[in-house]
Amino acid sequence: MKNICVLVSGGGTNLQALIDAERNGTIKNGRITCVISSKDGVFALERAKKADIPTVVIPRKDYSDSVAYSMAIKDELDRQKADLVVLAGFMTILDECVTKAYSYRIINVHPALIPSFCGEGFYGIKVHEKALEYGVKISGATIHFVNEEADAGAIILQGTVNVENDDTPEILQKRIMENVEWKLLPKAVSLFCEDRITIKNDKAFVDLK
Ligand code: GAR
Repeated sequence: MKNICVLVSGGGTNLQALIDAERNGTIKNGRITCVISSKDGVFALERAKKADIPTVVIPRKDYSDSVAYSMAIKDELDRQKADLVVLAGFMTILDECVTKAYSYRIINVHPALIPSFCGEGFYGIKVHEKALEYGVKISGATIHFVNEEADAGAIILQGTVNVENDDTPEILQKRIMENVEWKLLPKAVSLFCEDRITIKNDKAFVDLK
């Protein structure tokens, strides 16, 4: 059974999808052992507490730079004996002291089709604003491993939705969350926990059976 640590910064709907998937058996061979938040008082922490999952708050604002913050995160992940780290709406870019130590063991959900609308500055609702501004007709979400470059690690799963003429960023965000993120993130987590992801030449290949 693999230990899963989930990192959050906000509402935690993706965390909720993971909790539900663990409870209903969609996630096999893994259990969420800890939720770490970069902010106190966020609703994701309430979701974890309601599900009896231990929580730790490591406030980003208490650290002067990304390296110091990332070292604190790494110490906690080591303490938790994390086999898998899931960034579920975690809004801080982690330094290589974490990404190298946990290479191919950190999974992120990004709310667009990488390599579009990604990298530094593309997070949360901003991603959907940019997609609508550009006028794309299809968008979606990407589940990928985290490496030293923002949103550039090996892609595990992607899913799409249509963009409608009268979409607002909020409507598009909701469609992508409901139809892609909340389904594919638990699926990718289970694939990882079941050792069904293989890495070859920095690319991820999943055994969908
Ligand atoms: C989700 O849409 C997630 O894909 C996005 O933030 C939202 C968090 O929602 N993540 C990023 O933009 C990371 N670059 P949640 O807290 O309800 O899961």
